[in-house]
Amino acid sequence: MKVTVVGSGNVGATVANVLATKGFASEVVLIDIKQGLSEGKAMDIMQTAHMLNFDTTVTGVTNDYAATAGSQVVVVTSGIPRKPGMTREQLIGTNAKIVKSVVDQILEHSPEAILIIVSNPMDAMTYLTLKDTKLPRNRIIGQGGMLDSSRFRYYLSVALKEAGYPATPTDVDAMVVGGHADKTMVPLVSLATYRGIPVTQLLSDEAIQKAVEATKVGGATLTGLLGTSAWYAPGAAAAALVEAIALDAKKLIPCCVYLDGEYGEKDLCIGVPVILGKDGAEKIVEVKFSDAEQAKFNESVAAAREVNSKIAGALE
Ligand code: LAC
Repeated sequence: MKVTVVGSGNVGATVANVLATKGFASEVVLIDIKQGLSEGKAMDIMQTAHMLNFDTTVTGVTNDYAATAGSQVVVVTSGIPRKPGMTREQLIGTNAKIVKSVVDQILEHSPEAILIIVSNPMDAMTYLTLKDTKLPRNRIIGQGGMLDSSRFRYYLSVALKEAGYPATPTDVDAMVVGGHADKTMVPLVSLATYRGIPVTQLLSDEAIQKAVEATKVGGATLTGLLGTSAWYAPGAAAAALVEAIALDAKKLIPCCVYLDGEYGEKDLCIGVPVILGKDGAEKIVEVKFSDAEQAKFNESVAAAREVNSKIAGALE
């Protein structure tokens, strides 16, 4: 199978790198507008093939969309990243135009592709892509929940360790829904477990709240440390979505998808649990939140609608 990654910055290159090491794709194409960047990143990745023992061919091109033809899955990472102190929402003016132009060119050459949107503000960019392309909603998936859930697992594992339980992130099952936004994402405490044990039985309210708050500002914390937004976990998260689709794995992963009545919402893209398989977002799973979580989800919905209302202005 052929996968294209649009944008060869830190996140895009990490997606390509993780995909190559996973080995299920025969071909990964990196494309960027910056002359030579994709070619260089692809060549660097290919020079790890012998050490890392993979047979995926990674190629890089500068703005040559013909080279992406026939891709089954396309990951869109294009746009500018956050600088310290910026919110994801502040990127809309620049990134809306870029994402629209990229998606139009991609679909010219890969009309059947499933699109994974990573560019921020991701929920709004996913909504924009859906409205712009009018594709069936199963083919347009925003990556946010996988990343935020992975961060939540990490912070819960740290809290569990501090409380005397020797947890690593893989011992923890936890999910984050709602928008991929600092203030309004919703880590689902009521469903978080340590090897099947609800974390609420093992951790104090304070410890749980600390993990929740750290998760919500997970991206901003890294932007502060790195001077630009994170890439290892965002890249691995997008690659995990590609993998579930490519292998028809039917995995339940929180993703940003278009709601048409699910969770009582319509005409909105936001993070909810989704089954991912060969047709993309194959099924939205409706779970019951606690009352507090439902109230936070409603706030997240309102915030996402507010950002969506700025899309038309951003495209002018
Ligand atoms: C983050 C950015 C990439 O959460 O959205 O790290």
